[in-house]
Amino acid sequence: MQDSKKIILSGMRPTGKLHIGHYVGALENWVTLQNDYQNYHLIADYHTLTTNLDTSNIFDDSIDMAIDWIASGIDPVKSPIFRQSKIKEHTELFLIFSMLITKARLERNPTLKEQIKDMNISSIIYGHLGYPVLQAADILLYKGNMVPVGEDQVPHVEITRQIAGVFNEKFPMPDGRQIFPIPEPKITKFARLPGLDGKAKMSKSLDNTILISDNEEIIKAKMKKAFTDPNKLRKGDKGNPDICLVYTYHNKFNPAEVPEVRKGCSEGTLGCFDCKMNISKKISDYFAPIREKREILENNKNNILDILIDGENRARTIARQTMSEVREAMKIG
Ligand code: TRP
Ligand code: SF4
Repeated sequence: MQDSKKIILSGMRPTGKLHIGHYVGALENWVTLQNDYQNYHLIADYHTLTTNLDTSNIFDDSIDMAIDWIASGIDPVKSPIFRQSKIKEHTELFLIFSMLITKARLERNPTLKEQIKDMNISSIIYGHLGYPVLQAADILLYKGNMVPVGEDQVPHVEITRQIAGVFNEKFPMPDGRQIFPIPEPKITKFARLPGLDGKAKMSKSLDNTILISDNEEIIKAKMKKAFTDPNKLRKGDKGNPDICLVYTYHNKFNPAEVPEVRKGCSEGTLGCFDCKMNISKKISDYFAPIREKREILENNKNNILDILIDGENRARTIARQTMSEVREAMKIG
């Protein structure tokens, strides 16, 4: 049956320990998908170089991220987990693909424009412009049919589709077969969990995150500073849950009490402190089994490295096969 399963390629840049926004926006979804599809999980370590040349933490960050993936329920036996930099075929296909797309097309990439704005930089490096080209290589080396992504990554899947189309047309196999599928983005429903400061997104660089590994005490301490309805200053004040991010967390992690929280908040019978302590406990309980699992994994980091090496061996076999087809079609190398 394995062969008839559609292929999913999912990836993240290794940013170290993951936050609960990663879980809600991606991981939870990956875990469900692994039953019906053949999944490959890429640790996009080369991609981190596009915005940060400090490589001192890449190794540890990759291991920490893999721990969070596995603790969250990714089964590395079913779904290989591997580091991009360990499979040379990524860079090879990246080079070939970079001949198939114009600079102007890459400059139109809205995700790149966003990043330039966010990072407040005036000029970007060549490799950053080529970010989606490397991503296309990541996806197509494994002939990915589907890519689970947040909205911000959809333009990269579009570029991947374009590159696949151009390659297929220019370089069919001798028997006329086309090598690459045209992958579809699969957008996550509950894609974004806002940050503790009320910003749209949790992000390490904004320092507004709750980590998957945070225990109840840490969550409570972080939650105390969380953004709420600014007009609700004390318990008796009536609040508006719709503008409060703590309420968003209740929706996700405490659905059973949502009507009660809504009523208490808008009528002023519920105070923000109690509301925050309540949700902190719920979030902690929600992640408790994952925390337990990750603690065991963390105490045995050598095992994680073995898991990665095994995933890399399996991924490399596929990547080599694809590259030999690419070379045959291109009559090169
Ligand atoms: N660009 C993705 C992100 O920042 C990470 C990534 C790299 C990726 N290669 C990929 C995602 C291939 C999916 C498929 O989230
Ligand atoms: Fe937000 Fe809860 Fe305070 Fe209402 S009571 S403003 S939902 S923290």
